[in-house]
Amino acid sequence: MSGELEIHGPTLVLRYPVPGDAGRLFELGSDPETTRFLSWGPYTELAQAERFIEGVPGSRERGEELGFVVERDGEALGWTLFNDVRSRDRSVTIGTWLGKQHWGTGVNTESKALMAALAFKAMGVERLSVFAAASNDRSRAALRKVGFVEEGVLRRFNRHGDEWFDCMIGSILPAEYEAGPLAAVASEIRGSVPDNWVFNG
Ligand SMILES: CC(C)(COP(=O)(O)OP(=O)(O)OC[C@H]1O[C@@H](n2cnc3c(N)ncnc32)[C@H](O)[C@@H]1OP(=O)(O)O)[C@@H](O)C(=O)NCCC(=O)NCCS
Repeated sequence: MSGELEIHGPTLVLRYPVPGDAGRLFELGSDPETTRFLSWGPYTELAQAERFIEGVPGSRERGEELGFVVERDGEALGWTLFNDVRSRDRSVTIGTWLGKQHWGTGVNTESKALMAALAFKAMGVERLSVFAAASNDRSRAALRKVGFVEEGVLRRFNRHGDEWFDCMIGSILPAEYEAGPLAAVASEIRGSVPDNWVFNG
C-alpha cells in the first residue's frame, strides 16, 4: 500500500483532514450538544478548528492520535480517531463525534465498521477499547448495538470544563468483530498505514 491512508465504505470515506475542513468542523463542533461529553468544546472561534487540524500530522507521527474526517459525498460529517495507544498490548481506543444532523442516520455504524476494519485487518489491534461517559446513554447504546462489550465504570475519569464524568470502559476483540455487524460492512483500505500505527512487535 502507498499514499495517504483512506478507508472507503458503502457511503463514507475516512480521510486525513485538510485546512479547508476547518470551517465545517468548526460549524459542527460549535454545537454544545455534540461536545457535551467530550474533553473539549464547544468551539467558539474558527481558529480553534484550524489549530486542531494543524496539529493532526504531528500527533499522528508521535503515535498519539490517528484521526480522520468522516466524509460522505464530499461533505465532512464529523471526526473519528484512535488514541490511548498501548502498542505492546496492541490496543487502541476509538472515539467519534458527528454533527447532530447525522445522528441516527447509520453514519456512526458505518464509520465504526471502517475504523474496526482498519484496526483489526491492517494495524494488528487485539483490543479496541472505548470510553463513554456513564450518563451518555445514546453513545453507550450505539456502542452496544455494534458489538462493544461494557466492562465497568471508571470513576471521575474524564473532564469537560469544570464537570467530571464517570466513564464506562468497553471493548471489542477480534473474534467478536468478525462475528458481529461491523465486519459485515464492506470496506477498502487505500494507501499506507503509518508504520508507528502497525502493532506487530
Ligand atoms: C455518539 C454518536 C457518535 C453515536 O452516533 P448515533 O448516530 O447517534 O448512534 P446511533 O443512532 O447509531 O445509535 C444510538 C442508539 O441509541 C438509542 N438512543 C438514543 N437516545 C438514547 C437514550 N437517551 N438512551 C438510550 N438509548 C438511546 C437510539 O435509539 C439508537 O438505537 P437504535 O438505532 O436501536 O434506535 C453520536 O451520537 C455523537 O456524535 N454524539 C456526540 C459526541 C459523543 O458524545 N461521542 C461519544 C463520545 S464516547
